[in-house]
Amino acid sequence: KIYPVILCGGSGTRLWPLSRKSYPKQFSALMGEASLFQLTLKRLSGEGYADPVLLTNSDFRFIATQQLGEAGGNASKILIEPAARNTAPAILAAAVALADEPDALMLVAPSDHVIKDDAAFRLAVDAAAGAAEAGQLVTFGITPDRPETGYGYLELETAPDAGAQPLKRFVEKPDAEAAAEMLATGRFLWNAGIFMFKVSTILKAFEDHAPGLMAPVRASVAEGATDLCFFRLGETAYMGAEDISIDYAVMERAANLTVVPFNGGWNDLGSWETVWRETGPDADGVATTQGATAIDCKNTFLRTDSEGTRLVGIGLENIVAVAMQDAVLVADIRQSQRVKEAVAALKLEN
Ligand code: GDD
Ligand code: MG
Repeated sequence: KIYPVILCGGSGTRLWPLSRKSYPKQFSALMGEASLFQLTLKRLSGEGYADPVLLTNSDFRFIATQQLGEAGGNASKILIEPAARNTAPAILAAAVALADEPDALMLVAPSDHVIKDDAAFRLAVDAAAGAAEAGQLVTFGITPDRPETGYGYLELETAPDAGAQPLKRFVEKPDAEAAAEMLATGRFLWNAGIFMFKVSTILKAFEDHAPGLMAPVRASVAEGATDLCFFRLGETAYMGAEDISIDYAVMERAANLTVVPFNGGWNDLGSWETVWRETGPDADGVATTQGATAIDCKNTFLRTDSEGTRLVGIGLENIVAVAMQDAVLVADIRQSQRVKEAVAALKLEN
């Protein structure tokens, strides 16, 4: 039995003004009709899957249940984090909540990525399941195409092959020089941020590599309270957990790592630049959505999400413009990571 454990508590500030504090990107129809969260639910359903465990916060709990209902699904558990303490405490809380099923598999996945080929992903999950059952921490590896510093890197013994293989080393967010060196060897894949393991395996890994998280997270589950269909983790205990990602807390330190290469069109949609690439720019690098028109532009992304708003660009180069009803972003597309800074600097409420 595989429990999808879906992370849907992020705030996605780099995709402002589409992604809002009160309505972050995973709940938006960023690519297509359904939201990214709903596409994730669909991808992680079907034979062999239990109803998912959702990890979110109090602000998003009704958006999550509404979208879950629209998608026709149920949840096994909906855990509410009292505050964002990053992925390690959140994933550990899910494992503790599932501790009475130590042999069940957890498939931990973000809800803000796109994957084009769901069938290929299913095959990768099947390949991962065997290794996870044997006590491995399984990662999914993407073929890198640039020395990106925002990702984790997975070092293989040899060039990547199909199917599960042992992972030599996990390097989270290298600097630019190290990333370029790793890319050049041809033996590294990007970490997709999706993980698979048995409940008992990840509990043991946290005990071994991040023992300081055990007491606060266990207490937050023990002191948690049911509220409607939600389970609120105990606030005081949870706030005592270190703010750290699973990549640093466990993956960089563990020895029982396996990787399953995956090439089914993964994109983490981390910035407007990646959304532009995913939207499919033409030969001039121009991508527009409905309602937007580009004249004599190059490497430009024009997007409007507001019905009735027209957006026109003339003679632009390397520009991203996103027009919402109440906010407009215009930026150098190569600096689209910096939207995060703008949101922080302006102390934007939404
Ligand atoms: N519920 C919940 N609670 N979700 C969270 C929290 C939290 O406190 N913190 C982060 N998340 C969610 C984010 O919304 C995102 O979907 C996912 O967990 C990963 O967090 P990010 O903050 O986006 O991590 P990252 O992009 O820096 O790095 C991770 O993902 C990369 C691939 O996209 C790492 O796993 C890298 O190794 C990986 O390459
Ligand atoms: Mg990310």
